[in-house]
Amino acid sequence: MSQASAYPGSSSGTVNRPDAVDLRSDTVTRPDADMRQAMAEAEVGDDVYGDDPSVNALEAHVAGMMGKEAAVFCTSGTQSNLSAILAHCQRGEELIAGAGYHVLVAEAGGSSALGGIVHCALPVGDDGGLDPVDVEAAIKPDDVHYPVSRLLCLENTMGGRAQTEARLKAASTVARRHRLSVHLDGARLMNAVTALGTSPADFARHADTVSLCLSKGLGAPCGTVLSGPVDIITNARRQRKLLGGSMRQAGILAAAALHALNHNVERMTEDHANARHLAEALSNLPGVTVDLDACQTNMVFATLPEDGWQAALARVGDAGIITAQHSRHLRLVCHKDVSSDGVERTIKAFQQAFT
Ligand SMILES: Cc1ncc(COP(=O)(O)O)c(C=O)c1O
Repeated sequence: MSQASAYPGSSSGTVNRPDAVDLRSDTVTRPDADMRQAMAEAEVGDDVYGDDPSVNALEAHVAGMMGKEAAVFCTSGTQSNLSAILAHCQRGEELIAGAGYHVLVAEAGGSSALGGIVHCALPVGDDGGLDPVDVEAAIKPDDVHYPVSRLLCLENTMGGRAQTEARLKAASTVARRHRLSVHLDGARLMNAVTALGTSPADFARHADTVSLCLSKGLGAPCGTVLSGPVDIITNARRQRKLLGGSMRQAGILAAAALHALNHNVERMTEDHANARHLAEALSNLPGVTVDLDACQTNMVFATLPEDGWQAALARVGDAGIITAQHSRHLRLVCHKDVSSDGVERTIKAFQQAFT
């Protein structure tokens, strides 16, 4: 797979205009009136004492969804992944993951910087998954020359692609046979669940710990829940404290997260249909190539023609369409704050700029 899972940095257009169609990421969603109402009415307590009923309800709900014993509410996907990694691995031990996976490339090197953990990056297949043969070959023998291979990190969805349960299972089975633990970065797991018509627990059973973000396509303002066995989650809760992530009356955020899980999962099919429609329309433009195979959930990856793309993309930005961009490679992400009208406006702006 050639593309990284995220295009940070520059973008076309101006974000703060009222008619902007912001396609940079599904993290840009804003809480709607019903979600704000749920937040306003949330029962709260001091979560560091375990007293916040809304946080407790959220953790129990997500642990149940994942078929796990326990869960802990973290501030972000990065903190959830890092709390899990620190709970699984000791200093000098090795984490194996896909070369473009978020834990290796987009979390500020936290597991090395703070955990002294060694990284091993494997090639990522066209579906975003790992080949079990590569996983097996990467696991180090018991030899003083090598770090102890301790953890395999999977990611689903990865770059908008949804791996099947069988694909996750194959990599996980090899790791478990060699007594590694498995962590699943399921930042967008509900997109995979929606696209493949499966259940979160079907994926989660192939991992010991699973991280689920509420602030991406699910539309909550903040937060990620890490689920797993009681002993690992108890340890991860301590790691979360170490990372400064223990919150007090966090029930206000947990209420938004619960609202998101109860109201914003099924509607993801709209985001996926919008992304598909956008991908197909952009692929018809002269000189624009779109990775149609990668458009399995809510993301569109497009490459603009070499000649004149800067000026043309500036015209798209002038029309209020905002995309994430790395040189002439674009990522456009559909989410609940992008309506089908917004998609049509996007298509029109690209047609006017690129024909
Ligand atoms: C796959 C994946 N994992 C983890 C994260 C980290 O989430 P956060 O930005 O909440 O730290 C992201 C963020 O986009 C992501 O795409």
